Amino acid sequence: MNRPFLVAQISDLHLKAGNRLTYGVVDTLGALRRAVDHLNASDPRPDIVVISGDLVDFGRADEYAVLHPELARLHMPCYLVPGNHDARGPLLAAFADHGYLPASADGPLDWMVDEHPLRLIGLDSTIPGGHGGQLLDSQLQWLDDQLALRPKAPTLLILHHPPFISGIGHMDREPFINAAALERVIARHPQVERLLCGHLHRPMQRRFGGSLSCVCPGTSHQIVLDLQDAAPAHFNLEPAGYLLHRWDEQQGLISHNGVFGDYPGPYPFYDAHGLID
Ligand SMILES: [Fe+2]
Repeated sequence: MNRPFLVAQISDLHLKAGNRLTYGVVDTLGALRRAVDHLNASDPRPDIVVISGDLVDFGRADEYAVLHPELARLHMPCYLVPGNHDARGPLLAAFADHGYLPASADGPLDWMVDEHPLRLIGLDSTIPGGHGGQLLDSQLQWLDDQLALRPKAPTLLILHHPPFISGIGHMDREPFINAAALERVIARHPQVERLLCGHLHRPMQRRFGGSLSCVCPGTSHQIVLDLQDAAPAHFNLEPAGYLLHRWDEQQGLISHNGVFGDYPGPYPFYDAHGLID
């Protein structure tokens, strides 16, 4: 294709059922609606949307029942992976129409999609009932095999947990299990353009196995930027955002950080006399 391929990434929707506010404060459903409207109205419009986990807040069927019709409003295909707030069984039951997802929730919800200019591999980094991230040896072997099949195909990995220590104390208590083994796999496959992660609710980037792991802001609430070991588990309502990954065969992959909401502007730099003084 000649025009760039655009991948919008959103993350950590934390939806609740019954119009309840998340943590008693956050209107996560309203925030998701604004995000969907924003992406649908974007020009150029993203070709696909990927969602890097924590789709709902407590992994309940009634929460997924709220989520499904909201995502169905997107004018483009969307692809999702679970986060630690999700539950595989209820997620899969609600999204049975998402044909790329595996048929059974007995194991990790890993998947692969080969029909776009960028190959997509979704990895389920959750530990059922746990908070931190991991990839099983069997998942790493599957990933290694998948990547070996198409070494020339530029590839995005989508997984909830970032495989690195962020420096935000309370988010680092449970480091990603097997991160070093994952990094060795990535290092063998230079076609991996990005690891697209969530979980940390604010934008972040780190080199990883010769690729780049990046974290998407949340669609609603953000984790406070507090780089102390004793950083308490606090969130705030800084501008919510998303990542917009622009793929062009010549230029490669550029990852933009966008925000949702209305802000003053745009204002011109120039008028009829040149740069405005
Ligand atoms: Fe989250």
